[in-house]
Parts: sequence; structure tokens; C-alpha cells
Amino acid sequence: MSRLIAGAIAASMALAPSLASAADAARGKELWEARCTGCHSLDANRVGPLHKGVFGREAGTAPGFSYSPALKNAGPTWGETTLDKWLAGPSQFVPGSRMGFSVGEATDRGDIIAYLKSVSGR
Ligand code: HEC
Repeated sequence: MSRLIAGAIAASMALAPSLASAADAARGKELWEARCTGCHSLDANRVGPLHKGVFGREAGTAPGFSYSPALKNAGPTWGETTLDKWLAGPSQFVPGSRMGFSVGEATDRGDIIAYLKSVSGR
């Protein structure tokens, strides 16, 4: 009996790492609310452009937002790789852009990007 229980525990522990390594959109939502909503919202342009639909959108193209010329002309399409570079260091990725905020932890960036993807329907 106890061998059976030990076996079940070992099996569930073996599964854990693969689950933990996947980007976590629920955690990303919490991080986004804590760090990004000072300047961004999903549905309206504020200090920064609206975020709904940003995943898969070309940079600098939210209607009605007044972008820096640098970001407007830079032209990346926002996906996992470009968003990761942008969030790690906006002014390194797009020199002359005006977002004075970055996210140092790769795991945090991955989770935030998973959340942005989930609200963009892609
Ligand atoms: C201090 C205000 C501020 C904070 C905080 C902030 N941003 Fe921004 N963000 C901006 C501004 C301003 C721009 C436009 C930059 C430009 O025009 O060069 C921008 C642009 C962007 C863009 C490009 C959008 C597009 O339409 O091309 C993305 C993506 C983005 N921000 C994501 C984030 C995320 C994710 C967070 C939270 C981790 C965040 N931002 C936090 C001010 C902010």
C-alpha cells in the first residue's frame, strides 16, 4: 500500500517541471495589472497605446495614438520574440522610443506576453 502511494507521488512530481515551464497567462494578467495599467489599458489609449489586439499587430499602429516617430517607423510586428526584446529594454530595442519602463525577469516577460496574446485573440 505505502509503495503504491510513494509511486503516485513520484509520478506527480515527474509531471511538475513541464507544467511549471509553460508561460502562465493568469500570472501574466496579475503582473500586467500591477505594472502596465499605470500607462496602458486594454480598450483605450492612455499614456501608452491600448493593448487589446497588440499581439500580432504592427508596432505603432493603434488608431489615434500619438507615437514617437521612432516606434511608428520601426515597424516590428508584435509577437513573442519582439515583445520580449521590447519589454526587456524598449529604448535598446527601438532607439528613440518613449516607453520609460522595462521588465527585468524573463519569466515575468513570458507570462505578460502570454496574457497579451490571450486578450488579442491569437
Ligand atoms: C510609464 C508609462 C508606461 C508603462 C508603465 C508601460 N508602458 Fe508600454 N508604452 C508606453 C508609451 C508612452 C508607449 C509608446 C512609446 C512610443 O511611442 O515610443 C508604449 C508602448 C508600448 C507597446 C507598443 C504598442 C504599439 O502599439 O506599438 C507595448 C507592446 C507596450 N507598451 C507594452 C507594455 C507592457 C506590457 C507594460 C507593462 C509591463 C508597459 N508597456 C508599461 C508607456 C508605458
